[in-house]
Amino acid sequence: MCRMKNLDELTDQIKRCTSCDLHKTHTNAVPGEGPKNADIMLIGEAPGYYEDQEGRPFVGNAGEVLTNLLEKAGLKREKVFIGNVLKCRPPKNRDPTEEEIKACSPYLKNQIRKIRPKLIVSLGRFATQLLLDQQVKISQEHGELKNSDYGGWSCKLFVSYHPAAALYGGNARKKLEKDFEKLGNLAKNLDNYKTSQQMTF
Ligand code: URA
Repeated sequence: MCRMKNLDELTDQIKRCTSCDLHKTHTNAVPGEGPKNADIMLIGEAPGYYEDQEGRPFVGNAGEVLTNLLEKAGLKREKVFIGNVLKCRPPKNRDPTEEEIKACSPYLKNQIRKIRPKLIVSLGRFATQLLLDQQVKISQEHGELKNSDYGGWSCKLFVSYHPAAALYGGNARKKLEKDFEKLGNLAKNLDNYKTSQQMTF
C-alpha cells in the first residue's frame, strides 16, 4: 500500500513512524528535502544533533561541508533532493544497526520510486552499501559511477565519501573535493543517463 502514496503522504508517514526504537529517542524525524522531481538525490547516513532538532537533513557541520561541495560542483542545494538511510537520529550519533536500516529502508525505496532521479549520490559507507546491496570499502569505491536498482528504480549511482569525513582532518577534504568535482561533470550529462522502473509487486 505504502508505494501508492505520493511524496507528501510518505513524508507524513515518516514523521509518524514507529517501526524501530529510534522514534522513542528522537526529537524530529528527518524525511529529507528537495524537489519532488529532482534529477539528483544525495543520500547520507542518518540525522545528527542539529538535523534531529530541526527535522531537516544536513544542517549541521557536515551540512555546511556538503553545501560548499555542492556549490563548488556548480550544483544548487535547493535543486537536489537530500535524504538519509535512517530518518531518525541514532542516540549519540552511533552507527545505524542492521535492524534500523531494515525497518527504515522501505521509506528510501519509496522516495526513490517517487522522485525517479537520474543520478543518486551515496555519501559514505552506509548509503553506498544499502544502494548497491553489497559490502564496500569506501576508500576503494569513492569517485566511481555505478548502477543501482534499489527499490526497483534503475539509475546511475555515484559513490562519494561522507562530507563529515572532511571534519576529521587528514586528506579526506581533498578527496571529497575531487569526488564532487567529478560529480559536477557528471551532472552536466544527466540527459545521457538511462533510467527504468521494474515492477516490484
Ligand atoms: N550526516 C548524515 O549522514 N546525514 C545528515 O542529515 C547529517 C549528517
